[in-house]
Amino acid sequence: MPKRYELESAPTPTPERTRTPSAGSRHTRGSSTRFRTLISPALKTIPTHRSSVLGQILAMRKDLVGHLKAQEQIHGPIWRVAIGRGGMIQLLGPDALEFVWKNRDGAFSSARGWEPYIGKVFPGAIMAMDGDEHRYQRRIMQVAFQKSALRTYLAQMGPAIDAGVDTWMPPTGGPAARRMFPLLKQLTLDLAASVFMGVELGRRAKDLNQAFVATVAASLAIVRAPIPGLSMWRGIRGRELLVRRFRDLLPQKRATHSSDFFSEFCHAQSEQGERFTDQEIIDHMIFLMMAAHDTTTSTLTTMMYLLARHPEWQERLRAKAAALGKAQLEYDDLDQLDELSWTMREALRLTPPLTSMPRMCTKDTVFQGYEIPAGTMVGIYPIHVHYMSSLWTDPYRFDPERFSPARQEDKRHAFAWVPFGGGPHMCIGQHFATLQVKAIMHQLLLRYRWSVAPGYSMPYQLVPIAKPKDGLKVTLERI
Ligand code: HEM
Repeated sequence: MPKRYELESAPTPTPERTRTPSAGSRHTRGSSTRFRTLISPALKTIPTHRSSVLGQILAMRKDLVGHLKAQEQIHGPIWRVAIGRGGMIQLLGPDALEFVWKNRDGAFSSARGWEPYIGKVFPGAIMAMDGDEHRYQRRIMQVAFQKSALRTYLAQMGPAIDAGVDTWMPPTGGPAARRMFPLLKQLTLDLAASVFMGVELGRRAKDLNQAFVATVAASLAIVRAPIPGLSMWRGIRGRELLVRRFRDLLPQKRATHSSDFFSEFCHAQSEQGERFTDQEIIDHMIFLMMAAHDTTTSTLTTMMYLLARHPEWQERLRAKAAALGKAQLEYDDLDQLDELSWTMREALRLTPPLTSMPRMCTKDTVFQGYEIPAGTMVGIYPIHVHYMSSLWTDPYRFDPERFSPARQEDKRHAFAWVPFGGGPHMCIGQHFATLQVKAIMHQLLLRYRWSVAPGYSMPYQLVPIAKPKDGLKVTLERI
């Protein structure tokens, strides 16, 4: 289990304290001449964390929340990691998320924040666009996420989930060991292929899956050049394969109309009459399929893990699923499954698939008295807010009822529960993700019971998208 920390949040620093640091304080001590001449004077007033880059990466990998809380105790809600020229500013807490996401003075760029990570493997991704261009693309994309479309996607998914989940175990026989992450990933990819592309993957599933894995892995490649055999090279090759697949299907999708995202994008027209070009459709499809299946796989894996650790909740959800009396969920059932909603929300609180996200500050701005100069990278951390004890009661505890109408802990701050982000880039697929996760979980609960070994704690790799390092080993049993 993660470590507990006594002090959750350091007091907000006053402008006086931070703008004129005392001589020889830990924030100024050790500044090299090179640093003094290169970085903006404003940056020097921001508390600076000076351990080695490797040391910081290792600390974050070991215990991300613990590391952020420990830094917050030392520095407060804003501090700078001294990497590269200006370093990276870390902003913590719900007010920081609101400040960056709402982006009222247009100081934060998603395009320049995400570009270094995904620019080569997901060019044209809507998440890495700003301003008018972003609004234009989002207006058209929104058409494919309307309620009527979601209703149809869910109806299509029911039988596909049934067929996919059924292959996990032979129809007869006792409990057996399974690794859930690869099974869930295959299932969500197959669903993405049918709901997004309108095709059955069959033998091509493996190629496509590998291509997505390679593109996502490339976002974190340490060597950014596409050197044969290394991660970025594999990512770019993966992208090339995906582009070929979508380009081959495009003429047929343009010519006909079917109920999948690909077809919707080909025919979508905003209220202003705007439409996507072929290249935009390909770019959006590749990004969307990645964004959709990796995040929902992450959520389902966390839910299965938590429900294995808390069998009383697994039984409670199963009883509710059985009481509904339907093998497959329909759109109007979604609102009736309160406990399932709370459990999904609690899983997303404890392990949001995107634990952090980058922005580039492109215009001088001020946060809580600190000047953030243009040209500085900024990191924000939804996961940190999800563990603040000023917002959540006993935040390390699995407690889905904190989302019940009687408690509503998520309402303690508009940015307390933020797995889907906020502001103009807030996840466009939030409702799709919710209905897909619930539809899969409903069928799993009715078909299987699962458990983990006593004392088992699932080891996580939290970036770029949270997943278990061991695939999540469970014992699965048909009901
Ligand atoms: C539980 C599942 C999911 C989680 C936790 C999640 C989380 C997020 C977050 C945090 C962002 C904002 C990133 C930022 O501000 O930099 C985002 C954006 C986005 N997500 Fe999701 N997502 C999920 C599922 C999906 C699904 C299923 C789809 C598509 C069907 C999708 C499509 C997108 C797109 C297109 C964007 C970019 C939106 C924009 O920039 O305007 N996501 N997601």
